[in-house]
Amino acid sequence: MYRIDIMTLFPDTLGDMLCESILGRAQERGFIRIECHQIRDHTRNKQKQVDDYPYGGGKGAVMQADPLYHCWNHICTEAGERIHTIYLTPVGQVFRQEDAKRLSTDYDRLILVCGHYEGVDQRFIDECVDEEVSIGDFVLTGGEIPALAVADAVCRLVPGVLSDPECFINESHWDGLLEHPHYSRPEVWHDRPVPPILLSGHHANIEKWRRKQSILRTRNRRPDLYERLDLSSKADLKLLREIAAEEIEG
Ligand SMILES: C[S@@+](CC[C@H](N)C(=O)[O-])C[C@H]1O[C@@H](n2cnc3c(N)ncnc32)[C@H](O)[C@@H]1O
Repeated sequence: MYRIDIMTLFPDTLGDMLCESILGRAQERGFIRIECHQIRDHTRNKQKQVDDYPYGGGKGAVMQADPLYHCWNHICTEAGERIHTIYLTPVGQVFRQEDAKRLSTDYDRLILVCGHYEGVDQRFIDECVDEEVSIGDFVLTGGEIPALAVADAVCRLVPGVLSDPECFINESHWDGLLEHPHYSRPEVWHDRPVPPILLSGHHANIEKWRRKQSILRTRNRRPDLYERLDLSSKADLKLLREIAAEEIEG
């Protein structure tokens, strides 16, 4: 079983996402377990204060190191070991599919720390955090949405969570490509027909069409990813020639 412990000041905001749908079913079946911990329960003061003004001045509040430490220590002590700990922060390394793969295979347990306000006291990060992770170049009010994003991306790669590894192996970002478009019934919707090749039943041609769509999408939407692709196989070179010919034809 893969386990994730989320440290947060707002555990109720995470509940539904973790208990419904694929993650909920995977928890019921015992493939994963995700526990939320209220950092406030680990304060050592009567007011249950978890934040204070920033030294040096400035607006906002900083989450204090001590409640965070006691919450973190409680989880590690119960586990009987120091657990790989990730702090969600806009100053971290941007999270990618390869990180989801790495975290799902290199560990069987993670702690995710959600910040709030201006962030957390650096000394907690220095003492307890192994990795700082950002979910993108923008700033949210708290680390709960980033923690859900990381937990979801990691858990869906845990064996048993999805019905078949095929489900994620051919998806966007698995091998550097964006996925081809999808269509479902009806065959014509609002005068828009499904590409005829998908109705042909010719499996090899459908696969070829999908690969070509993936290459085109990646080239047109994400030149940064396209630059890094290896398209040197005979089959891909043939597809690239076809794409070039189709573009010349207009
Ligand atoms: C308002 S933000 C703090 C931003 C911080 N003062 C800064 O400028 O880098 C509050 C919390 O939201 C979370 N957060 C916000 N944006 C995030 C992002 N892009 N990735 C991961 N966590 C984020 C972090 O846990 C952070 O401590």
